[in-house]
Amino acid sequence: MENKRRDFLKTACAPVVFSMFGITMLEACSSGDDDDLVMDTANNGGDDDSSEGSSINIDLSSSDFSDVSEIGGWMNYTGGKMLLLRISETEIRAFSNVCPHAGANNQWSHADSKFVCGNHNRSFNDDCSGSGLQMTCYTTTIEGNTLTVTR
Ligand code: FES
Repeated sequence: MENKRRDFLKTACAPVVFSMFGITMLEACSSGDDDDLVMDTANNGGDDDSSEGSSINIDLSSSDFSDVSEIGGWMNYTGGKMLLLRISETEIRAFSNVCPHAGANNQWSHADSKFVCGNHNRSFNDDCSGSGLQMTCYTTTIEGNTLTVTR
């Protein structure tokens, strides 16, 4: 809340001061901005992280998702632009189906805890671990037959 007010003041300050109070107040406003700039930059990074994310709900009882009904099953859910991987009764992992190497989205296979993109045969861990290029991982929850993926 405090940060948003600072952002507002930062962006609104100059025009408001010009139109209402004149040059003297503008100078005071500018020196305050310098102090706030460092904090705003740091806080905006945090805000961006929390404001990201749209959720999609998937009905796991649909036959369209029968491939992920059993542990180890996976599918390329192209309609949602994501790979789904059944880990356990209560967990399905979700990843962007856009290959981090060069963007192919339809040549995936899965074996030995790795997704392999057949475009250039690069492989990626299926738990979002490791270094270098990694798949984009999404947050998932399962309630009943509904899988919610937040990205
Ligand atoms: S685009 Fe996937 S390996 Fe190159």
